Parts: sequence; C-alpha cells; structure tokens
Amino acid sequence: MIGRRSRTPLPPGKYRMGGKHFKNDKAFIKTAVGDVQRLEKYCGLNAESALFDWGCGAGRLAVGVREHLGRIRDYHGVDIQPELIEWAQENLSGPGFRFTYLNVSNERYNPDGSRERDLSVDPGSVDVFYAYSVFSHMNDEDTAGYLTLIREALSPHGKAFVTCFVEEDVAGWEENPEGYGPLDWKGRLHCTRFAREHFEQHVNAAHLAVDRFEYGQETDGQSLYVLRCR
Ligand SMILES: C[S@@+](CC[C@H](N)C(=O)[O-])C[C@H]1O[C@@H](n2cnc3c(N)ncnc32)[C@H](O)[C@@H]1O
Repeated sequence: MIGRRSRTPLPPGKYRMGGKHFKNDKAFIKTAVGDVQRLEKYCGLNAESALFDWGCGAGRLAVGVREHLGRIRDYHGVDIQPELIEWAQENLSGPGFRFTYLNVSNERYNPDGSRERDLSVDPGSVDVFYAYSVFSHMNDEDTAGYLTLIREALSPHGKAFVTCFVEEDVAGWEENPEGYGPLDWKGRLHCTRFAREHFEQHVNAAHLAVDRFEYGQETDGQSLYVLRCR
C-alpha cells in the first residue's frame, strides 16, 4: 500500500527537483494537497479520474492524492531522472499509483536522452494532466511539441494544469533572464520564460484553449494555465 512502507529519504544533493522550495516534509505535503484541491476545483479531478503527472519528480503530487483522496482510478507519474522514479516506485507505488521512467532529452535534467519526444501515454486517455514547473525548464521547440502531445493525451473533456513563467512585452522565449525572479539562475534551462502571446500561440497551434489564467502566483512567480481541448 502506498505510504505504508518505511520511506527511504532521498539523498540530499543527488537529485534535482524543486530546489529550496520544500523546506520540510510538512511543507512538501501541504503544497501537494493544495494542488490536488485545485485540480478538483479547476479540472474536475475525482476518484474516477486518470491523472497524469508529467515531470513528477519524486512523486510530490502522488503524496497529495494519497493524503486528500486516498486513491483514484489511475495516478501515473513520469520523469526523466531515473533515481527519482526508482525512489517513487519503491516508496509510493501501489494500487492506483504507478511511475514510469522516460529516457527523453532535456538539456537540464537529462541532456543525453532521446530527442524523440514521448509522454508514454495512450491517446485520449487522460482526464487531468498536471505539469508543475516543467515548462519552466524547457526549450521553445520542446514546449510547442509537448503541448501537441498533451492535446493528444487528453480525453475530450480533459483539462491540463500547467505552470510556466510568462510576461508581457518580453522576448518570445528566453533562458535564465537576468534580474528576473527571486533567484540567480545558473546552468542550462534553470529558468525559461515566455512572452505570454508566444506561449499562447503554442497553445492555439496545439488545438488547446485557455480555460483559466492566473498570473504570477506559483513557485518563483510562475503563472498557472488551465488548458482544455478545442
Ligand atoms: C522543477 S521539477 C518539478 C517536479 C514536480 N513537478 C513538482 O512540482 O514537484 C521539474 C521536473 O520535470 C522533469 N522533466 C523535465 N523535462 C521532462 C520531460 N521531457 N519529460 C518528463 N519529465 C521532465 C525533471 O526531471 C524534473 O523532475
């Protein structure tokens, strides 16, 4: 059963996820439960849903699902960092909860991975697609390509909850913009920022529509988009 095993702590510094944002277990769980509540409210998440957690890291959202809903029909977390997925499989998988490692490329997290984009999901099978702080570390071409794959993954009434850095009147896509946000960005794709219009052009091109937009309230000043099929 999920959560019943004695959990092995992740070795500090050996994995990359969330930086300094989760100061302790309580804060980690609180953010996860809060996100599950927003998925209920904005995307219709319920016990019968298929929830896809893209870039799940060590499974923060799965912890929130367990705390708040017990279990749902299908939680599926995928990530490109094998040690995080191994940890999640060992500590969080169980009935209704599964994790998959994908060896695809991201210049920050898995530069040697395959250039062929993949979500490892059946078309039209996802009720709620969650991507928290994933487009905030992604190049422009992959962003456009993955939005198309998200559209293909969603069921006709499915919704996608995604966060990213967007601003008005800035370059279409920029890596580690100087003087922007609360951190001193270092290394490939530490912060990727879009012009709002540019990001929404990708959304439109993927045959998605903006259902909700909330500016600047997410981690480090990211904005929230809820997307639906059109
Ligand atoms: C900043 S972390 C966010 C983790 C998690 N979503 C959360 O909010 O706790 C970004 C995660 O996205 C993953 N990632 C980046 N590109 C990805 C891709 N193409 N497919 C799957 N995961 C990806 C990284 O490995 C990393 O774990």
